[in-house]
Amino acid sequence: MADEPVIEKKGISGYGGGSVDTVLSVDDVARDAEKLASDRPLPERLDTLCKGEALLSIEGLVAGYGKMEIIHNLDLRVGSGQSLCLIGPNGAGKSTILHSIYGFTNIMDGVIRMKGQDITRLSTNEKLKSAGIAYILQDNSVFPDMTVEENLLMGGFLKDKQDEAMAAAEKVFEKYGRLRERRDQRAGVLSGGERRLLEISRALIMDPDILLVDEPSIGLEPRFIDMVFEILDDLQNNEGKTIIMVEQNAKKGLEFADLGYVLVSGQLAMAGPGDELLQNPEVGRLFLGG
Ligand SMILES: Nc1ncnc2c1ncn2[C@@H]1O[C@H](COP(=O)(O)OP(=O)(O)OP(=O)(O)O)[C@@H](O)[C@H]1O
Ligand SMILES: [Mg+2]
Repeated sequence: MADEPVIEKKGISGYGGGSVDTVLSVDDVARDAEKLASDRPLPERLDTLCKGEALLSIEGLVAGYGKMEIIHNLDLRVGSGQSLCLIGPNGAGKSTILHSIYGFTNIMDGVIRMKGQDITRLSTNEKLKSAGIAYILQDNSVFPDMTVEENLLMGGFLKDKQDEAMAAAEKVFEKYGRLRERRDQRAGVLSGGERRLLEISRALIMDPDILLVDEPSIGLEPRFIDMVFEILDDLQNNEGKTIIMVEQNAKKGLEFADLGYVLVSGQLAMAGPGDELLQNPEVGRLFLGG
């Protein structure tokens, strides 16, 4: 790496996987990341990165909570079957982008399109049922006192016919033996990795085209982290799912994803192929732990 990483011994929590000695403070990362943003990627660049026509596109999104604006004029493009990982400092607005796509925020301006159709103002139920967008909730969204099978069927609550949900659940059980073996057990007994698998599988019941995944690796032991990325890889490469994820573990996220977007203070600072961003010294210093 050309630049010596800045060493700060503040003993406070920071970003990335480095030791305490090499970790930059959250404020340092935010300030340095601002500088990166002086060369913001233009929409044309995002079009080039996108494989073919965009399956999902965002133009000029301004969004937030109540009157508070968090996302400022954001553009995004992801092609069918592509994966995109959002990285950036805490509070940059990564989750808010996923929330906006799914319909949990106040959208003040801009357009979100799916297969060319304006879906900006659809309800979350319509997003899931009609537009084919599923949002995988963060940790602890399984119902511990319900069985694995009952939890899975919850994913089909919008299906008109219950037997369609049952058939989709059977497909999941065929694919994932770990869940099949425990289908009649309380979900509360599952390991962390199995619970994450159940959360992902539940989203598959509606057979979505796009999966929005917020921090799939959070709180998991390393062996389960690898398992979760293998599952996502399979869904992308064997089932043709398009994935937009947020990942605190920027290295894992960029290794996995075709595209990486760096978000800083609610704006896009950088965009590129995941492996290119992994090699970028500034990205390394700020987000990959030195
Ligand atoms: N439901 C909410 N109501 C009001 N403000 C919110 C809400 N959720 C998030 N925010 C604010 O929006 C900003 C962006 O938060 P967001 O969760 O999108 O960041 P993030 O990039 O996902 O951060 P992290 O890496 O910590 O998950 C923060 O200032 C946060 O306090
Ligand atoms: Mg977040």
